[in-house]
Amino acid sequence: MALKLRFLAMLLFLLLASTAKANPSVFDVTSATYGAKPGSDVTKALAKAWSDACASPSASKVVVPSGTYKLKEATFRGPCKAPIEMQVRGTLQAPANAGQFTRPDTWVGFQYIDKLTLSGGGTFDGQGALVWGQNDCHKNKNCKPMPINLRFEFITNSRVQDITSLNSKNFHMHVFRCKYTTFQHLTITAPEESINTDGIHIGASTGVNITHAKIRTGDDCVSIGDDSHQITVTDVTCGPGHGISIGSLGRYKEEKAVTGIIVKNCTLTNTQNGVRIKTWPDSPSSSTASDIHYENIIMVNVSNPILIDQLYCPYTRCDQKPPSKVKINNVSFKNIKGSSFTPLAVKLVCSRGLPCENVKLTNIDLTYSGDQGPLTSLCSNVKPTITGMKKALACATSSLAPLPLSKK
Ligand SMILES: *[C@@H]1O[C@H](CO)[C@@H](O)[C@H](O)[C@H]1NC(C)=O
Ligand SMILES: *[C@@H]1O[C@H](CO)[C@@H](O)[C@H](O)[C@H]1NC(C)=O
Ligand SMILES: *[C@@H]1O[C@H](CO)[C@@H](O)[C@H](O)[C@H]1NC(C)=O
Ligand SMILES: *[C@@H]1O[C@H](CO)[C@@H](O)[C@H](O)[C@H]1NC(C)=O
Repeated sequence: MALKLRFLAMLLFLLLASTAKANPSVFDVTSATYGAKPGSDVTKALAKAWSDACASPSASKVVVPSGTYKLKEATFRGPCKAPIEMQVRGTLQAPANAGQFTRPDTWVGFQYIDKLTLSGGGTFDGQGALVWGQNDCHKNKNCKPMPINLRFEFITNSRVQDITSLNSKNFHMHVFRCKYTTFQHLTITAPEESINTDGIHIGASTGVNITHAKIRTGDDCVSIGDDSHQITVTDVTCGPGHGISIGSLGRYKEEKAVTGIIVKNCTLTNTQNGVRIKTWPDSPSSSTASDIHYENIIMVNVSNPILIDQLYCPYTRCDQKPPSKVKINNVSFKNIKGSSFTPLAVKLVCSRGLPCENVKLTNIDLTYSGDQGPLTSLCSNVKPTITGMKKALACATSSLAPLPLSKK
């Protein structure tokens, strides 16, 4: 009998333990404990729900139900005791004004968390329209930083999925020192004219994947900065925007290498650039960008569909004479089709000091139907291996002479 009871108790324990594992504890900001209400400010309730969930010894879930809530700012910090999910089903709205943030460069931040899931189908509305005109960081080094909608720092083994970032004041998402994290099924939206609203910027991160994202914004849809490795971008649609970019690189001292980038199955529509690698001339120190592969890309009316630009110099005056010290190596462009808005559809301008090496162009089929001259291509300080494409796209002009600086 006692044995049987002990057995039953054991069973019950196992059952409870397994349901605890299957159902994370829920921390709903609108529950009596936290008291948030749609239409009101959720800042304190959300901070409290996060710290309780983060302290939970088993898996937990913070829930923001449907409805619109004001959120002044938030930094969700780990480490947490167990995997944690934040499920935002409603809309979180930032203050329209940029003057009142504790971290002036961040609206919502996630830091030092392992096994985070951010999900829910909801929207982070940065309400950026008022401040876009004030953002002069692209030309003023001492500018006032504008808050980024979502910042991920030191996040590992995590997922960010099914959320929308709307009208960010600055970059929509900034991913820094993250590892093995996937961003998927995202919608990122801001007007074409909004300033500096990069979709997802990745820096100093390893093993980050972006897949199934619809990005329409005022700057790069995806940009990848120095010290980034094993980054995969697939099934992303971009446009309007400035394209999918690596860089800019070589502007600052002691930048680290970029290695292992794959961009596959993406469509760019009406963007300023398609796939681009940009580095500054006159770099203060040397670095490399290598193992970069673009495949199955569709361009629709893209101004510069394929672009390596080692004379990148927007807004400021650069000294053009010292060439870029970023070495570009092992880059392939394969199966890239569609239409160019300018006749110069392929432009590979490499460093005069460190020519690009091991560049391949395979099956590039771009068309131009405007009246600015015939379709053409330009290669400078690079001799790519070319297969399966018409002459006009296969380095129709080759040059080793310095070219004028690019202004965009
Ligand atoms: C990212 O994609 C690569 C290539 O498809 C895959 O090997 C890797 O496991 C993925 N990483 C994550 C975190 O999903
Ligand atoms: C890319 O598209 C091809 C053809 O549609 C498909 O077979 C492949 O699985 C896709 N790859 C990725 C990584 O999405
Ligand atoms: C093509 O791109 C150019 C430049 O971005 C833009 O002005 C034009 O409206 C686009 N054409 C179409 C049909 O969208
Ligand atoms: C080029 O890149 C691919 C993929 O990242 C890598 O497997 C290969 O070893 C690289 N080749 C060279 C010559 O560096």
